[in-house]
Amino acid sequence: MEVAYYMKRSRIGIMSTKLIAPTAVDAKKQGRLEGQVAVISGGSGGMGEATALLFAKEGAKVALHFSGLTDASIKKGHNVVSKLKELGFEAIPVHANVSNYSEVKKAVDRVVNQWGKVSLAVCYAGLPSEMKFWKEDPLELSDDDLHSAINVDFLGSYHFLKACKDYMKDNDRYGKSVLVSSTPAIYGEDIGYRFSLAKDLNRMTVKSLATKLIKDYGVYLNVIAPGTVETPANRKNYSDKEWKELVSGIPLGKAGTPEDIANVALFLCSHDSDYVVGQTIIVDGGEFRL
Ligand SMILES: NC(=O)c1ccc[n+]([C@@H]2O[C@H](COP(=O)([O-])OP(=O)(O)OC[C@H]3O[C@@H](n4cnc5c(N)ncnc54)[C@H](OP(=O)(O)O)[C@@H]3O)[C@@H](O)[C@H]2O)c1
Repeated sequence: MEVAYYMKRSRIGIMSTKLIAPTAVDAKKQGRLEGQVAVISGGSGGMGEATALLFAKEGAKVALHFSGLTDASIKKGHNVVSKLKELGFEAIPVHANVSNYSEVKKAVDRVVNQWGKVSLAVCYAGLPSEMKFWKEDPLELSDDDLHSAINVDFLGSYHFLKACKDYMKDNDRYGKSVLVSSTPAIYGEDIGYRFSLAKDLNRMTVKSLATKLIKDYGVYLNVIAPGTVETPANRKNYSDKEWKELVSGIPLGKAGTPEDIANVALFLCSHDSDYVVGQTIIVDGGEFRL
């Protein structure tokens, strides 16, 4: 399996007729995240899994977070960790309901107990996407409806920032954190209003707190705003016909992949972005332009 993985990823492996087969551990040695310890919240989801794999490949030790609220969550979280370990990467599972700060703090403490630090945090945890949320009347939502997304998407991200910042400061004042927003949170949208609302709070967190975090803690904070991304959670909401229609409006003519988002998370967590602070990076195939 290690060889197959390397062949898929390595240009040398693909171009050469001769099998060059260093182990997966060798392949990750020159990575851009060498020496870093990453916690990926929502690591059991589509973007989270892709990011965990890419970060591990780039040399980071990965703490894969999942909610642990259902059997499916526990199974998926452990599966992703097993996959990473089989490839020779260092990974541990951590679970927490992100709406609860003490659970998030415990999860982050576990990472630090295991590896001595945490230096990267990418926060993907979000209310599961269900078609009913995209069809609801935005002017008939209950307080609980509105809180459902805010408690996971916004509070969950805030909790990770709060739990990680002092450890990042202790890490020679170096840490990088990435939140997730969404393009409708930028242009405003009554469809999926509860999601957009919570996602815009993440942008507000980034705009409001990035300067304090960098000055007082040495922590970078930026946010990714994806457009339409073909994660299993999103794709299942549409028939083939509906999906085709949705995607036809994207200038690039295709939906984003979880790897497209992971690549931008890698940029924001590597030294390549050392002069990027407090920004929203839109990743949507050209649909929305600032
Ligand atoms: N796909 C898109 O087109 C798109 C576009 C814009 C923004 N986004 C946002 O990007 C993020 C990732 O998207 P995705 O499609 O990869 O999502 P996904 O597959 O649905 O993953 C969501 C993740 O959030 C976790 N989660 C949910 N509730 C939680 C809770 N209370 N506590 C802890 N973890 C919780 C889930 O964990 P368990 O499964 O372990 O419960 C899962 O790992 C989401 O925030 C989504 O809203 C997606």
